[in-house]
Amino acid sequence: MPLENCILSIDQGTTSSRAIVFAPDSSIVAVAQQEFAQHYPNDGWVEHDPEDIWSSTLNVCEQAIAQATKKGAKIAAIGVTNQRETTLVWDKKTGKTIYNAIVWQDGRTADKCRELQNAGHLMTVQQRTGLLLDPYFSATKVAWILDNVDGARRKADANELAFGTVDSFLIWRLTGGKVHATDVTNASRTNLFNIHNLCWDETLLDIFNVPKSMLPEVKECAADYGNTAAGLFAYSIPIAGVAGDQQAASIGQCCFKQGDIKSTYGTGCFVLLNTGEKALLSKNKLLTTVAYTIKGKTNYALEGSIFIAGAAVQWLRDGLKIIECASETEAMAKSIPDDHGVFLVPAFAGLGTPYWAPNARGAIFGLTRATSSAHLARAALESVCLQTSDLLKAMREDGVNPKKLRVDGGMVANSWVCQFLAGVLDVTVERPKVMETTALGAAYLAGLQIGIYQSTDELASMNQIDSRFEPKMDTTKREKLLKGWASAIQSTLGFKA
Ligand code: G3P
Repeated sequence: MPLENCILSIDQGTTSSRAIVFAPDSSIVAVAQQEFAQHYPNDGWVEHDPEDIWSSTLNVCEQAIAQATKKGAKIAAIGVTNQRETTLVWDKKTGKTIYNAIVWQDGRTADKCRELQNAGHLMTVQQRTGLLLDPYFSATKVAWILDNVDGARRKADANELAFGTVDSFLIWRLTGGKVHATDVTNASRTNLFNIHNLCWDETLLDIFNVPKSMLPEVKECAADYGNTAAGLFAYSIPIAGVAGDQQAASIGQCCFKQGDIKSTYGTGCFVLLNTGEKALLSKNKLLTTVAYTIKGKTNYALEGSIFIAGAAVQWLRDGLKIIECASETEAMAKSIPDDHGVFLVPAFAGLGTPYWAPNARGAIFGLTRATSSAHLARAALESVCLQTSDLLKAMREDGVNPKKLRVDGGMVANSWVCQFLAGVLDVTVERPKVMETTALGAAYLAGLQIGIYQSTDELASMNQIDSRFEPKMDTTKREKLLKGWASAIQSTLGFKA
């Protein structure tokens, strides 16, 4: 395979930055990854140091480019994908951020959201953005920075500050401050973007009190985002594709047809159903979001967002210290014949779809003297599948009944999870050959822009399935599990510290 047209995909995630070099046939030429620190300065707050985001991204790019160069590869373009909603504000002159990045999981603006809801803004927000009033999205985070950092609002009003999600911040830094841009998918997660006319919305800017001059230019997913600054890498590389990580995964899974649906298990879990060129409004608190705009055509998605998935396994490792690495959980789950009625509700960052309870806290139910670390590990894995089942239930109640689900993300390397998921959802679960679908999606976008690929049809023809998991769980067991889960959720929602 000739390696002169490789794509460097940057996947800046919640817990690590990754860089993957893909050959045009989507095989992986080089990979580099670096974890970085999470900061919890207050109850319910989650922040990242922007310089950690930048330096880890730069490091992994340099490593991946070096590995690829050794193999004779040449990078023709860069694709960027990123943790969505996470909010940064920086000085336009110096490029320095004025506060840490406020992470999507951060709940500090829960009261502000309630205040806006009480003031009657929910309908306006939902109809224009497809989202809800929840601290998850960027708008209240930007306003929080402007209202809490000394002099920030005055500087913003004087057009001295820029706002961006992580993609914008990276593009700004990669281009040496030349380009302040984002793509439609990231813009659609801010609560400031009208997903119908694909423009920043003056009414929303007013409601959230965010000055328009701070906002990046919004582009299609496959577009010209400028070139990397001279001296950053051995040669200057065009940035040609951008999408938020969940939309990128959907593109990497080739969910280009109406009804195609995928679920990604990273830090959180996000189910996206392609609804074609129509933006459907959910009656069951699913989000409506832009799936992508490619070559002038926009597809929308219904999305269910779970805030803790892989992060529950990380908690078993770093919080409880009952495992040393995530892969141990597969053997632990298999080592016990059933879950003994133990349920873990991992509401460590509140609950997302369909409950939208930012102040909910995690809980474990059904403990007995017989409960072991294996039961807790199994309950953590089951919780991820049971939360997915809540999402599919909401979709079914909205009139969509998927028969198969494409899965990806770190957790689905665990075949026990895939089999349990198929059983609890009662659908076929498909795992792709290239499990790095998020990075692959960004690479596809850049490849479309520079002409390596001609169309989404061509990409879909390259898609390959690795394994299929058919549902095997009997109905009585499924019903018992779902009943136990519903009761655990209700108790969690009712809990007051
Ligand atoms: O909306 C948040 C999402 O983009 C974060 O993704 O991969 O860190 O779970 P991830």
